[in-house]
Amino acid sequence: MISRRNGILFIEEVSTVEIAEKYGTPVYVTSKEQLEKNIEAYKKAFPNAEKLYAVKANNNLSIMKIIALNKFGADVFSDGELYLALLSGFDRSRILFNGNSKSDREIEMGIQADVKFSVDSFDELKAIESIAERKEKKVEIAFRINPDIDPRTHPKIATGLKESKFGIPEDQALKAYEMAMRMKSVAPVGIHCHIGSQILDLSPFVSAMEKIGKIAKEIEKLGIQLDFIDLGGGLGIDYEGKGAPSAEDLAKALLPAYEELLSNLRAEPKLWLEPGRSIVGNTTVLLTRVNAVKRGYKNFVAVDAGFNLLIRPAMYGSYHRVLVANKEGEEEELYTIVGPICESGDVLARDRMLPKIEKGDLIAILDVGAYGFAMSSQYNGRVRCAEVLVSGKRTAVIRERETFGDLVAKHRIPEWI
Ligand code: LLP
Repeated sequence: MISRRNGILFIEEVSTVEIAEKYGTPVYVTSKEQLEKNIEAYKKAFPNAEKLYAVKANNNLSIMKIIALNKFGADVFSDGELYLALLSGFDRSRILFNGNSKSDREIEMGIQADVKFSVDSFDELKAIESIAERKEKKVEIAFRINPDIDPRTHPKIATGLKESKFGIPEDQALKAYEMAMRMKSVAPVGIHCHIGSQILDLSPFVSAMEKIGKIAKEIEKLGIQLDFIDLGGGLGIDYEGKGAPSAEDLAKALLPAYEELLSNLRAEPKLWLEPGRSIVGNTTVLLTRVNAVKRGYKNFVAVDAGFNLLIRPAMYGSYHRVLVANKEGEEEELYTIVGPICESGDVLARDRMLPKIEKGDLIAILDVGAYGFAMSSQYNGRVRCAEVLVSGKRTAVIRERETFGDLVAKHRIPEWI
């Protein structure tokens, strides 16, 4: 997806210098080709599985549309994500409404849209039953089970440990299915779990499959026929250039465990997956302009993007590779790349050896397609930047840069002040 031509960084056939001039900085730039490669990799690795894209990773409509056109389903985590998934063309029969704290309004919207639910609590189950009954609908559900598995990732993105807020504890799983079976407007048809994100060691996925397999067997004994087993997302990507497992590697690890699981069941539940990061993460670069270089205790490179646009380094201490996009040269100096936000934590990259940087240079921060723009804010009165899609020589804005109008669009000033 990226290459160097005469020292300048290109995304597909387009120079990043030209993109920055044409669309301004900061700007998120996504390669359509890379996105399609990632989608293909999943299709090839899991031809028979249902692949639900985790919308939270990147909810740009054009990006979602490309994924929907490839017949992926969608994992949505809020009413807004459900709205976006329907708008970008995901087939409602392949949408799963996830979430650990759904409001009655959200439940109502999901039922109205005829999507399936992953149910995270007994209270949610009861709410779905009563709203579905009122609407005279039958809702297909899975329970999200917390399998108490350590995904060996950053603690803030581990979701399947017993101390995590997600899912129904495994020892309450049968009770949940029994309760659902007795309900009139709910049909328990699946099991769901999601153990965490940016997982590079595949063994926790296999352990999760084994645990879910045991629970599935018990559930079958209750007389429930399972249509699907959803193992969630979580496959990590190669942020550090040290390698990461591919979708194919995941399939090699997971499919034997899935076959084993099937051999113990009467029904043949389909495998569902919910990849987010591994679909969009490496598709996108954040281009940001150097406003100042300040030499002191450290060499600070102050750029025009901060944690308002990319919060991962500040929030999780995440590592993103950084390149100087407008020129090549010997790596000469140690630089710390900082944003314009009024917080000491606004550091995008620490202590990187890079070619000599000057005001006006263009910096590229790599692998920001997942949880990048999606987690942006207007903090410090900074408008969100544009997003651009590249395909071969073509470029198009897929989200316009916000304006000051967007900063105040929803503000109201009472007449009594
Ligand atoms: N399914 C469920 C139920 C999830 O909660 C998530 C992510 C996914 C699927 C997709 O996981 P993925 O394939 O993208 O790892 N903001 C954090 C990541 C939070 C992940 C939340 N859940 C980050 O920037 O690393």
